[in-house]
Amino acid sequence: MAASPELIKQAKQAVGQQAAQLVASGMVVGLGTGSTAAFMIEALGERLRRGEIQGIRGVPTSFQATVLARQAGIPLTSLDEVEEIDLAIDGADEVDPHKNLIKGGGAAHTREKIVASLARELVVVVDESKLVERLGSTFPVPVEVLPIAVMPVMRALTKLGGQPELRMAVKKDGPVITDQGNMVVDVKFADIPDPAALEARINNIPGVVENGLFVGLAGRVLVGHVVDGHPQVRVW
Ligand code: 5RP
Repeated sequence: MAASPELIKQAKQAVGQQAAQLVASGMVVGLGTGSTAAFMIEALGERLRRGEIQGIRGVPTSFQATVLARQAGIPLTSLDEVEEIDLAIDGADEVDPHKNLIKGGGAAHTREKIVASLARELVVVVDESKLVERLGSTFPVPVEVLPIAVMPVMRALTKLGGQPELRMAVKKDGPVITDQGNMVVDVKFADIPDPAALEARINNIPGVVENGLFVGLAGRVLVGHVVDGHPQVRVW
């Protein structure tokens, strides 16, 4: 039987809390975006308040992460000030058996990929519904695009074999606008046999800022699942 939304939420919370335990005093931490990363940020703030760790600095991957980190009392820094990130912790929309990811459900994948690429390790926090055999089976590939290039980029993505759709906003008329002022095109592919090749080909289209295929970036994956009605976390 499928777990209830409440149990899935509890699994995400358990994963976020366990990921926060990986942070040690003095670390520079990449703060991910999304509902699972939000639980991690909250738990990290709690650890700081309890005095379990000191002297950490967060690098937020989005406006959402910035606001949550401030609320949680986590001191922030930026990529202007740090060259390397000790640990980045972030969610994902899909994880394949090689730990390749699709990200960008929150339209934050550009900053998320920059932060992940500078991190010694990207720890991925997901519930088990995100585990897939093949990337693209449940989620389209998000592509951040400069507004002036949306139509040519959509035509180029169609030529690559995808079905592109401009992401529309909820509770705002018109398209989603990213934290960088760009738009997002979600691209459904029937199959993604070579994620690394597709990642490079999409990014090679003029006007594309970044796409949500994360290949070879993930380290540990913390998976929240429900056993006998109780949330549990396994580390992969
Ligand atoms: C945002 C992301 C998120 O990490 C991803 O969408 C997962 O979110 P959630 O933890 O809410 O399921 O990539 O751009």
